[in-house]
Amino acid sequence: MTTPFPKTPTFMTIDEPFRFEGELFDLEVEGKVPTELDGWFFQVGPDPQYPPMMGDANPFNGDGIVRAFRIKDGHVDFQHRYVRTHRFNAERAARRSLFGHYRNPYTDDASVRNVPRTVSNTNIVPHAGKLLAMKEDGLPYTMDPFTLETEQMWDWNGNMKATSFTAHPKIDPATGDLVGYAYAAKGDCTKDIAYYTFDKQGKVTREVWFEGPHAAMIHDCGITEKYIVLPIIPSMTDLDRLKAGGIHFQWDASVDQVYAVLPRDGDAKDVRFFRAPNAFPGHVINSFDVDDKVYLDLPVVNDNVFWFFPDAQGKYPPPSALKTEIVRWCFDMNSKSDTPTYKIISTLAGEFPHIDDRYIGRPYRHAFLQVTDMSQPYNEAKAGPIMGFFFNTYTHMDMSTGQTKSWFAGDTSSTQEPVFAPKSPTSAEGEGYMMGVVNRRAENRSDLVILDAQRVDEGPVAVVKLPVRMKYGIHGNWVPASEFNG
Ligand SMILES: [Fe+2]
Repeated sequence: MTTPFPKTPTFMTIDEPFRFEGELFDLEVEGKVPTELDGWFFQVGPDPQYPPMMGDANPFNGDGIVRAFRIKDGHVDFQHRYVRTHRFNAERAARRSLFGHYRNPYTDDASVRNVPRTVSNTNIVPHAGKLLAMKEDGLPYTMDPFTLETEQMWDWNGNMKATSFTAHPKIDPATGDLVGYAYAAKGDCTKDIAYYTFDKQGKVTREVWFEGPHAAMIHDCGITEKYIVLPIIPSMTDLDRLKAGGIHFQWDASVDQVYAVLPRDGDAKDVRFFRAPNAFPGHVINSFDVDDKVYLDLPVVNDNVFWFFPDAQGKYPPPSALKTEIVRWCFDMNSKSDTPTYKIISTLAGEFPHIDDRYIGRPYRHAFLQVTDMSQPYNEAKAGPIMGFFFNTYTHMDMSTGQTKSWFAGDTSSTQEPVFAPKSPTSAEGEGYMMGVVNRRAENRSDLVILDAQRVDEGPVAVVKLPVRMKYGIHGNWVPASEFNG
């Protein structure tokens, strides 16, 4: 590589590009890795292979790299490999970046005009015997769960008609159906939304197309036994802006939050749009229905959280101005009103939620999040400046009371998204382990931390030590060994 990475916040501190692929057999463990755990903790995140063509880039623009912690018999083996997307392969062949601004094909090198530009860096999800590396701007890539070799871009045997698919599909625990959607489903900045269901063999069983109220980001969804809910974020897209070389998303403080609610067995005519005042709906914790009421739990932030997708004036709020509420919306499908009622469960600044996946779409009690707790100390002299996403605490939240138990990772540490692994397929909801990667910023390396999910405040039962650092990943999942007969 003949061009260095820029010295801008995306490319600095513990999150500077790592670019390393490899494996570590039998990681060093402090404490005891529970022997009930038999499976993988997969996670994916951005790690730019080459410096950005446009001089700088936002943190979501990097090539997807997958980390796999294979946990069995109290031991942990580790692998770290790039998703070999078309884009990754094209840039590797050219030994430089060929794709321009984030989700702006009009800024790409002419040589890659017909090359898929997704980087598969957002989530990694098992379904129908395949491991899918996903990003919402394109189709997933399938990967071998044992070797992390990339297999192919996946269009469900030609059955995916949309040009993209969400990175946050949900798997119905009762049926094994994968339920998801595409937004901008007929191409960049279109208002088209496509809702899909795939059965546990991966066959398309439902496909519904409809238009949203405007062309904007739809990052996550909730499913219940009967409904799917799509929160539409006031981060707007505009084709003319893209053609002029501008940013993909622009915050618009005059636009409502919109929640599209569709019966899972419904058609386009059944879609209802509910509206709430301008704010940023974050990641879905869970959703469920009772009678004709649809409940959706998620953190809602009072303003734009994406500083790299500012408003039309280029403005974004400082982190200190952002206030989070963990909200339970209630969409009454019997009411003619398009205004949901709500309850605030907590005001903790929690995000990147996971639940016990066996309760997706059902009434539930236990949620697991990471929290930015600014009442805790941060030793900047040792740990370096905070330049991007920052969380420092793992929290178990009782969603029926809002009560929490938390573990603070320390004044030189930052956390990454935690996942939940049940003790056994038949254990009670929330009985199991919470685990996540913790960055030891002063030591420039990371740990995998495992906590008893019901006693998070007692601290880790095991700390699995990595001799290298893990850049801030985005999302991942606990995958029991039985999923791939591993
Ligand atoms: Fe996400």
